[in-house]
Amino acid sequence: MKIDIVTLFPEMFDGPLGHSMVKRAIEKDIVDINTINFRQFGKGKHQQVDDTPYGGGAGMLLKPEPLFEAIDAINSRNPETKKRVILMDPAGKPFDQKMAEEFSEENHLVFLCGHYEGYDERIRSLVTDEVSLGDYVLTGGELAAMVMVDATVRLLPEVLGNAVSAQTDSHSSGLLEHPHYTRPAEYKGMKVPDVLMNGNHGLIEEWRHEESLKRTFLRRPDMLENYDLTEKDKALISK
Ligand code: ADE
Repeated sequence: MKIDIVTLFPEMFDGPLGHSMVKRAIEKDIVDINTINFRQFGKGKHQQVDDTPYGGGAGMLLKPEPLFEAIDAINSRNPETKKRVILMDPAGKPFDQKMAEEFSEENHLVFLCGHYEGYDERIRSLVTDEVSLGDYVLTGGELAAMVMVDATVRLLPEVLGNAVSAQTDSHSSGLLEHPHYTRPAEYKGMKVPDVLMNGNHGLIEEWRHEESLKRTFLRRPDMLENYDLTEKDKALISK
């Protein structure tokens, strides 16, 4: 997979993408990540990328030309790839695991990170997706893009050490994950549940499912609206 990140602050990505899972994916050539500073396409002596809004109002807007030219540069470098161009925008569709799964199936992702008050509206004609990290406003799209890159890259085949773990992640199954335990069997008076120690895999699976369901019901009941509950599930959470 190829990922281009269009930003005024490319150095922000050095740390987060240079560690752990994403670093491993880059080293294994599973993903190729580039940053492009669109300041280079800024206008005039000061390479201006923003300007005041027509009609008046507070704040500055990103001008269209630098972002159009950044996309032109990416297209001419990669004429053959079909691109998903993703605009970081607090007014976009909220990012979730399903979107990360969808992105992980693409060949080429382009993240556009804005700053300032907003975008000239014509910039939206460049993009396939407008995505928000959540219902809060960040100082720029960079942190949002980092989160989306991380959540996407870990889903690429051969990135996670244990491929099964992506399928059992909280959110990918539609439920939150069940509790986990490792050694010791007892710590400060807190015991590992007996069911996990007896080697009966049928019972263990049943316990895990019930714990996932209870945890989701208590913490994130909204998630159950999209989950296909069995009669047994319904009985469990109505107790
Ligand atoms: N830029 C500023 N806030 C943002 C958010 N919540 N999501 C994506 N991009 C943003």
